[in-house]
Amino acid sequence: MNKIYSLILMFFIFSFSWSQDQLNVIDAITHKNKVVFTCENKSKISLEFLDSKNIKFWFSPNGEFVRNNESFAVINAVFDENYTINVNESSSVYEVFTEDLRVMVHKSPFKIQIFNKYQRLILGDTVEQPYVVDGTDIKTSKVLRQDEHFFGLGEKTGTLDRRGKSYTMWNSDKPCYSEKEDPLYKSIPFFMSSYNYGIFFDNTYKTQFDFGKDSTDSFSFSSPDGPFIYYFFYGKDYKEIIKSYTKLTGKPIMPPKWAFGWAQSRGLLTNETLTRDIAQEYRERNIPCDIIYQDIGWVEGLQNFEWAKEKYKNPKKMLSDLADTGFKVIVSQDPVVSQATTKQWEEADAKGLFATDIRTGESYDMPWPWGGNAGVVDFTNPKTAAWWGDLQQIPINDGVKGFWTDMGEPAWSNEESTDRLNMKHHLGMHDEIHNVYGLTWDKVVTEQFEKHNPNQRVFQMTRAAYSGIQRYAFGWSGDSGNGEDVTDGWANLANQIPLGLSAGLGLIPFWTTDISGYCGEITDYPEFAELYVRWLQFGIFNPLSRAHHEGNNAVEPWLFGKQAEKIAKASIELKYQLQPYLYSYARQSYDTGIPIMRALVLEYPKDENTFNIDDQFMFGEYLLIAPVVEEGAKTRSVYLPKGEWIDYNNPATTYNGGTTIKYPVTLETIPMFVKAGSIIPKSPIVPYTGALKNAPVILEIFPSNNMNSFELYEDDGETNNYKNDEFALTKIEAENAPSILKVDIDVPQQNEFKTEIRNYLLKIHTTSKPKRVEINSNQIKPVSPSKISENLNTNFKESNYFFDEKNQLLMIRLPDTKLRTEITIFN
Ligand code: NOJ
Repeated sequence: MNKIYSLILMFFIFSFSWSQDQLNVIDAITHKNKVVFTCENKSKISLEFLDSKNIKFWFSPNGEFVRNNESFAVINAVFDENYTINVNESSSVYEVFTEDLRVMVHKSPFKIQIFNKYQRLILGDTVEQPYVVDGTDIKTSKVLRQDEHFFGLGEKTGTLDRRGKSYTMWNSDKPCYSEKEDPLYKSIPFFMSSYNYGIFFDNTYKTQFDFGKDSTDSFSFSSPDGPFIYYFFYGKDYKEIIKSYTKLTGKPIMPPKWAFGWAQSRGLLTNETLTRDIAQEYRERNIPCDIIYQDIGWVEGLQNFEWAKEKYKNPKKMLSDLADTGFKVIVSQDPVVSQATTKQWEEADAKGLFATDIRTGESYDMPWPWGGNAGVVDFTNPKTAAWWGDLQQIPINDGVKGFWTDMGEPAWSNEESTDRLNMKHHLGMHDEIHNVYGLTWDKVVTEQFEKHNPNQRVFQMTRAAYSGIQRYAFGWSGDSGNGEDVTDGWANLANQIPLGLSAGLGLIPFWTTDISGYCGEITDYPEFAELYVRWLQFGIFNPLSRAHHEGNNAVEPWLFGKQAEKIAKASIELKYQLQPYLYSYARQSYDTGIPIMRALVLEYPKDENTFNIDDQFMFGEYLLIAPVVEEGAKTRSVYLPKGEWIDYNNPATTYNGGTTIKYPVTLETIPMFVKAGSIIPKSPIVPYTGALKNAPVILEIFPSNNMNSFELYEDDGETNNYKNDEFALTKIEAENAPSILKVDIDVPQQNEFKTEIRNYLLKIHTTSKPKRVEINSNQIKPVSPSKISENLNTNFKESNYFFDEKNQLLMIRLPDTKLRTEITIFN
């Protein structure tokens, strides 16, 4: 190469790497709540202040703010429509002060730092290369502090704390995934830091996150293409950050109340006889159950939504008979139409409702695990919605109550299956649509369900997801379990705990694991019984609890021997007992996005010990659950955060928190601790949700010096009337002074909604026999133990009490007057 060429080459190399290393700001234009900074090389970055705590960032290397598609996730980017900012300029920086933040934009080199009002650095660009551009690929790097920890990215494997790890967002079907597998089915590019901020990277391409794996002093996120938009949320704690993310991407759908009941499924639970038999067996054995699933084999043709004729004699009759005994049936759907299902395939092909192959312009020919090759329904095409909606309504008209949308990655996707990148969808090429494919499907399923079935709450559970999925579906974690040796799935079970907790942190509050683990042939039921029981004991605390297993491997609770059945029954009953508590938190999840099953760090963000606790969680605010996930365990180490904790299994035992205890366990034990001072609303055990009319509210009370109050939420459980304020909130408060315990049940705030008569039974854990008990200052009489819980769901006038010396339990029954009721216990 002659000299002049090498000089030119060096110049290019130099200027290229220079533009990679250093950007210099030359201009800033402010309009209302937005400021756009321009750099020497024409790249621009815009900062749009949604309010004083939340900022939308958009970096554009060529200075143009254009995008192919509107965000699939964001539905509300206007937090405060009157918000305006002032940008102060000095020689080296621009500064924006909000009520909560100070944002410094350094001119040369360009670098943004966000401080809180106490001048603590919250988030800062790295000095070198805050944005690296390589073709369409962009990566941003931020300062990583020695003590910074990260939580989030939704349903991902591994530890809750993401520090030191890297992750990819590419919805992938990974049967029998290991505890280390990444990526998985869902892409939720939202995470939170222990430095009081959260980031939502709203880019649907195959994004990457590195939380200090490659470097010890920076972390980064990057995308191969698409608009480089991310939202910064500042919050006093994780809950506030989740609320902002919820405001941006939408509230979760509120499940029907029965969704919180027990559910039974199986890969080959796809025929009438088996379905009826299982239902009958549940009732005969008196094990509560609400839902029976039918897996994809229920369809005659994939996907014509017709019942497979040889498997279902009279599906309508089956559904109505099941409904008479309290069962709801959910059916599976896949997002494809097999070429063998000629009528629908030809129809969709003719209408252009399939994704096409860019190479041929024809409908893409997708190999599918069953039913032969198929067309991939293009849910980004607006014409698809009504077509699909009419089809899926067929089983709903027959009496089916909802769907599980399966295989929406779409299935068999993983990073190696690159041929499908040739798919073209109405809204873009597959590399852009891939991660939102499932979301666009779930949107259609839910919106069409709502259109055809006005005012009925949708039941919709899904596997593939992108941020925003909460508006349309609940989640489940797909094909867990050890496929090689089903009895060796202990690590897979343990992995489901942080995976589910992280799903919750990523706004999938209504979630279940496949109880038993999905993968693996069960050849020896007694041998598998222990793992089954432990999986179930964790699973009953999943807001939606579904037992499911592959193929014809039955996982009904009575198949694992007498002891396992007894334990499973008691655990499922506990779930039903806790339903009023759970349902009250479900409403909170709907309002705020905060999950029910909560990572300890969410409730105790300042307690560093909680950062690496992956195997325990809070169920609501007051119950701490530490499922046993170790084979043959005799004890379980449990970390109890600061405060006083009561052993739920043995309320006479209390612990002072801030320490790890060794808790003795048998197969029966679910280590469960209740915060001292809590009031837990419960229900009697029922065979299915709503089986007992006028079921009493049982208030289990754990007195302590500091009492917590509880707000009981009730609505009709089925319709969307709760959106029009048709619900009731009843506040229950308590005060514990020496020798007097007072419990106040407030008048239900019920607007339009009328609660049915639901009398109260108080169960107070106390060591001392009361000297006197008063209701609204009138002394009430003791009665015999048999009388205290007799006919609680009928109308009665007189309140009574009974003190159970042996169990140290004071029980008080009182009628539901709908008036403020003050219960006073004198010791
Ligand atoms: C894959 C799902 O993850 C699994 O739950 C289901 O049983 C099979 N598809 C068959 O539909």
